[in-house]
Amino acid sequence: MATRLAALPSPAAPAPTQEWWRSAVVYQVYLRSFADSDGDGIGDLAGLRSRLPYLVWLGVDALWINPHYPSGGADGGYDIVDYRAVDPDYGDLADLEALIADARALGLKVILDVVPNHTSDQHAWFRAALADPDAPEASRYHFAPASEQPPNNWQSLFGGPAWSRTPDGRWYLHLFAPEQPDLNWRDPAVGEDFDATLRFWLDRGVSGFRVDVAYGLVKDAGLRDNPGTYSPTLFGHGPEQAMTWNQPEVHDVWRRWRSICDEYPDTMLVGEVCLADLEQVALYSRPDELHQSFSFRLIKSGWDAAAFADGVQTALDAFATVGAPVSWVLGNHDKDRQVSRFGGGALGTARARAAALLMLSLPGSPYLYAGDELALPQAVVPDESKLDPIFHRSGGARAGRDGCRVPMPWNDSAGVGFSPDGAADPWLPIPADWAQHAVSRQTRDGGSTLTLYRRALALRAAHPALGSGTATVSTSGDVLTVRCAGDDETVTCVLNMGTDTALVPHAGTVLLASSTHVRSAHGTVALPADTAVWLLED
Ligand code: NOJ
Repeated sequence: MATRLAALPSPAAPAPTQEWWRSAVVYQVYLRSFADSDGDGIGDLAGLRSRLPYLVWLGVDALWINPHYPSGGADGGYDIVDYRAVDPDYGDLADLEALIADARALGLKVILDVVPNHTSDQHAWFRAALADPDAPEASRYHFAPASEQPPNNWQSLFGGPAWSRTPDGRWYLHLFAPEQPDLNWRDPAVGEDFDATLRFWLDRGVSGFRVDVAYGLVKDAGLRDNPGTYSPTLFGHGPEQAMTWNQPEVHDVWRRWRSICDEYPDTMLVGEVCLADLEQVALYSRPDELHQSFSFRLIKSGWDAAAFADGVQTALDAFATVGAPVSWVLGNHDKDRQVSRFGGGALGTARARAAALLMLSLPGSPYLYAGDELALPQAVVPDESKLDPIFHRSGGARAGRDGCRVPMPWNDSAGVGFSPDGAADPWLPIPADWAQHAVSRQTRDGGSTLTLYRRALALRAAHPALGSGTATVSTSGDVLTVRCAGDDETVTCVLNMGTDTALVPHAGTVLLASSTHVRSAHGTVALPADTAVWLLED
């Protein structure tokens, strides 16, 4: 893709012993919304393949693709019908193989999503279990005999009880939507089948998996009541949900998966572990388990220096104890877009830009959600177009996640270049003003958020202190400072989360600022509110 940007620094030669995933920048592709090649209004693998040069140009190391499998369509692909196939909406196996081959040729790793906690209710196992309570498939799920009340007080994360009835009156467990029955990992047939699934994709050259609900597979053996109720406002689950999540036996699954990955050089596993206690989260990334488990503290923190500092320090400390890198997250397909979370409009955009510089400076592996590099706001999706079960199961009380899943704007044509001309309507409506955020506009604009991300990623590659340094975190009032010391140089990220300009003493070079209003003179950097800067020490 053509660019009018000034020359970027050359990347430093990678340290030969460093495993790639320890500091990789991973770009999360919401496949359905990324690029539509065949005009059906749905993003697909061929569309993504055609956009790989964009990801190389941007400067990321790997892409994680949200579920590409045939699905019942109840939860954005997280209800899988066949774990070793491609949903026809997205293409076929040959398309995925071609994508992997092209990505490899371009130096990009491909990480697939895998969903081992639950299947679709359309999965062959669940259908067999519904048809015959004595079928071997029935013990691969959690069924309970017909009775007046559900077997316990567990709640679905999407609202309502976690138990639904089968047509013959039995109960079955679903911690998410009723169309997502939970698997019973105490039945060995389940683990054996997932072994085969992992090998199926690893044999096709993928570099690893993002593991959905990695803390949930094993449930309390007695299915006892939880002591408390779930709250979506918490950092993650804790003792109040002790019977559903984080059972000790789940770690055996990750040891087994790790040993499979170890047969395939340079592959990795990153787990979604939504537990409040980061020390517990880090345990999933012990040396013989997952390579990474997401740290969600920043995505759940408001615009507050103490909260951000605590989120960074707690994660650094927790993961250091197990020798794993921190995987940082500011946005994903489950959360409102950063721009909107941080106040919306110009304010939210300024903050999202500043937060990006913070995240990209930190040691470890940042995960970027497609569209965050364009500073996309949360899109307004009319209720009648919403598909998210969170919206529907809460009776509209919770807005749901559709607004962070609308298609990418690539250019300023009427359809923003998501689909070819003359295509069907996009699967989620695209806001009328979406073209203002388009990639084509932002590549031409030296002050755009896309330009900022690209420059930041190039600098991160050129200065290993960023991404691979030793971080020292401090705050002074509303100003958060992270000093990243590398072998040969030190880069400091300063983020002003207050309302007044901060004067930061500094001798050295301003590598990058999130705003053109940052000024540097006479050994002092004037850092306006809601901006961040990278400072290279002399
Ligand atoms: C976490 C995924 O990120 C989310 O999108 C999904 O709804 C749940 N897991 C259930 O699979």
